[in-house]
Amino acid sequence: AVKRTPFIAGNWKMNLDHLQSIAFVQKLAWSLADAKHDFADAEVAVFPPFTDLRSVQTLIAADSLPLAYGAQDLSAHDSGAYTGEISGAFLAQLDCTYVIIGHSERRTLHHETDLDVNAKVVAAQRHGLVPVICVGETAEDLEAHGPSAVPVRQLRTALAGVDGSKGIVVAYEPVWAIGSGQAATPEQAQQVCEALRGVIAELLGADVAAATRILYGGSVKATNIASFLREPDVDGALVGGASLDIDEFSSIVRFKK
Ligand code: G3P
Repeated sequence: AVKRTPFIAGNWKMNLDHLQSIAFVQKLAWSLADAKHDFADAEVAVFPPFTDLRSVQTLIAADSLPLAYGAQDLSAHDSGAYTGEISGAFLAQLDCTYVIIGHSERRTLHHETDLDVNAKVVAAQRHGLVPVICVGETAEDLEAHGPSAVPVRQLRTALAGVDGSKGIVVAYEPVWAIGSGQAATPEQAQQVCEALRGVIAELLGADVAAATRILYGGSVKATNIASFLREPDVDGALVGGASLDIDEFSSIVRFKK
């Protein structure tokens, strides 16, 4: 079986300005260096607001910190008359590795459709960015269609025209678990992540499916991270609230299975 490097990602959402981001990344780097002996060998990434990215880039590059980073969204377009939008080209120039696409807050608050998400995934790949594709069902979806139907539909559409060889990350975030303190159970997460891996296998092939990291997100904390990582199809976490607390996030990245 392919060994997938666990991926622990902090989605800051609209928190931490560019000055706060510098302090946070410094503390995170110290804490990772400090704890080398019990560091879980995960890849750790932060997803700051756009206005922080230049500061985060400078800091990480200057000290060669073992941290990846990316943006929380991008435009499906490359340049032009799109007031307020940020293109993948700009993100690539700031050495972003990743970009989150289709977070439920964008789907809900900004009415992004499955097709919008697909166009952004394709745009990310066009600029050499690895998309972190978010999918997840609401409580109503769960009630009406069961656990996997909506995430599977979202992922199918998101992957149209995608080049599997360029790498993708998928994040399963049940909407009812986000910021609610009510995480899914590891078994629930496993069930959906397994179904999502099946979609990847079907559309992009077995090798890509075996190599792709699938994350769980929704009320992940230091006390429950290990239980998710023990599941065979859960390869990491996309952490919201707990990624803003340096002690909590440091404990999360040092999970022990
Ligand atoms: O993208 C991560 C997020 O939506 C989960 O948020 O606060 O439940 O960890 P939270």
